[in-house]
Amino acid sequence: GAPPTPLPLPMCYDWGESSEGSVFVVEGEVGWLSCPLFSHPSVYNYTSTQSAGHNLFWYHLPEGQDLEQCCLVHTKDRERLWLQPTTASDTGQYICMLRNKSSCSKIGIRLTVLRPDDATRGVKCALPVAVAPTEKIVPLQKGATLDCPDLQDAIKMSESKPEVQWYFASALKNVEVGFHLLIHVMQEEHQGIYYCRVQYQRRNQTLNFTRSINVSAICETPFLLTNIHVALSLTLSVPLSLPKQPSIMNPTNDQIFTVKTGKEVRLVCRGHLPFVLNNPSRHIWWTVDGETLDKFPDRFREENRDWTLESVLVIQNFQSKDLKREFNCSVRNEKGFDTRRAQLEEEVTLPSVELGCGLGVTLLLMLLLFVVYHVFWLELLLLYRSWFGTDERHTDDKEYDVYISYARNSEEEQFVLSTLRRVLENELGYSVCIFDRDSLPGGTITDETLSFVARSRRLLVVVSPGYASQGSQALLELKAGIDNMALGGHLRVILVQYKPVRRQGWVRELRRARVALALVRWQGDKSRELSSRFWKRLRVELPVRRDPLTFHLNAG
Ligand SMILES: *[C@@H]1O[C@H](CO)[C@@H](O)[C@H](O)[C@H]1NC(C)=O
Ligand SMILES: *[C@@H]1O[C@H](CO)[C@@H](O)[C@H](O)[C@H]1NC(C)=O
Ligand SMILES: *[C@@H]1O[C@H](CO)[C@@H](O)[C@H](O)[C@H]1NC(C)=O
Ligand SMILES: *[C@@H]1O[C@H](CO)[C@@H](O)[C@H](O)[C@H]1NC(C)=O
Ligand SMILES: *[C@@H]1O[C@H](CO)[C@@H](O)[C@H](O)[C@H]1NC(C)=O
Repeated sequence: GAPPTPLPLPMCYDWGESSEGSVFVVEGEVGWLSCPLFSHPSVYNYTSTQSAGHNLFWYHLPEGQDLEQCCLVHTKDRERLWLQPTTASDTGQYICMLRNKSSCSKIGIRLTVLRPDDATRGVKCALPVAVAPTEKIVPLQKGATLDCPDLQDAIKMSESKPEVQWYFASALKNVEVGFHLLIHVMQEEHQGIYYCRVQYQRRNQTLNFTRSINVSAICETPFLLTNIHVALSLTLSVPLSLPKQPSIMNPTNDQIFTVKTGKEVRLVCRGHLPFVLNNPSRHIWWTVDGETLDKFPDRFREENRDWTLESVLVIQNFQSKDLKREFNCSVRNEKGFDTRRAQLEEEVTLPSVELGCGLGVTLLLMLLLFVVYHVFWLELLLLYRSWFGTDERHTDDKEYDVYISYARNSEEEQFVLSTLRRVLENELGYSVCIFDRDSLPGGTITDETLSFVARSRRLLVVVSPGYASQGSQALLELKAGIDNMALGGHLRVILVQYKPVRRQGWVRELRRARVALALVRWQGDKSRELSSRFWKRLRVELPVRRDPLTFHLNAG
């Protein structure tokens, strides 16, 4: 058979050399070439050519050589040819060729590797930079962020986070250095060329490249002139650049500091002190009566904050004679001087003594009332009842005021018959019912008990250990009383304790009732006097008797 005919290479369309001109790189730094075909994405689009089966080839033609003789440098399908790093011999023409089986295009591009000395272009203090600076315009008094050009490309190639170093010919004040450079407040003296050097690691090699930014200031909004001393001499023309004369922003002409004698006083002074190029000396300071603070004893102190051009005069233990002193804040730079007096005013103090006294008296009075109420509340209650309480005798048809229920044949029986009954009947004037004394012989005990209880206004239960044992008369009385009270029969049950009783000894009815009922305790000999607490408490529980003879309003 015949030998296979070689596949004909397609004719390559030649776009000649790129009109974008040469690409410059500093020797030793990182450089890269982008295929100029892709500068016209409407014709060649990297993504779409990839899908059409195209391959990208880079050729390097040293001066005076042909493409046929030389030198495929890169066959990887990349938009860019990376030179990491460049050497002097990399200078020359590069061909970028896009080819598939049936079509081919190529374009040339020139690379120039500069010696570092040539890259500084003879400018003092400049770093070698191959690429022209990008322009950045920042309004005066505004902040700005500078991004290092091409940093994003380095991030793609780097194996770790790149480092960025910033350089500026003048001393960098008022800036923050990092990945980006922040200018907080743009000033005229911040104008100039900023350099950034990006450094990154790749295959154990430290690679770098340098870029520059030309920062210039513009006056975007007219500067506020009210605080500037020289404004008075300006006519309608607004200066395009800031005045360089210093001025005092605080205290303003009509600012008044309120002071308090005996206290620490802080007077804050803020200056506007523009840099004058080549002379950075700027001052802000306080004087007292025209003298600097070192002439004064330690009551006056100055706190300077250089970075905000602020000076604080601290006066310890302010005295009224200080009100007559002249406290001036002054600023000075190469171009001028400004001074302003701080106006002080004594703070009006409230008549605190009088106020305190009034408050004290009120509190004392309230305390007194509180004490009086707690000591004499029983007396007050009795007094109140005697004036405003209603006499139940007029509103019901009951016969007895008090029905006394107690355990028969006990210590309490003696107490009931000789003390309780006597005092209630003879001294306080109540009608008392005691079953054993008042019931008629012959009737049914149950019926009679119920009827007596129902005819009484109060059921006075004298609790004792054996009170209301099963089947006793007392239990009957207690049940009658509680039932009557529960059914709204205008009867109230009062508990009187002659001797301390353990609660466990009480019958169930009594334990339940105790929650809702008053318990008046007999306290031995202390309770014998009619003026004692026992009788007062008992009288509070008993119906009202408006008999003046029975009032004993002396404290027990
Ligand atoms: C930048 O890289 C070049 C070549 O590796 C090296 O000579 C130079 O010192 C580097 N510059 C800095 C600032 O690291
Ligand atoms: C390139 O082509 C792709 C797909 O055809 C499209 O998504 C992309 O936007 C194109 N890019 C440009 C720069 O035109
Ligand atoms: C080569 O690319 C051209 C256009 O870019 C396309 O029309 C053609 O089909 C491609 N050929 C092959 C074999 O993929
Ligand atoms: C920086 O920009 C200013 C104003 O646009 C221009 O006058 C100056 O020549 C530029 N400097 C450099 C080094 O490009
Ligand atoms: C203090 O400032 C006032 C202006 O506020 C000025 O008239 C005065 O002369 C100054 N005094 C001193 C001692 O500088």
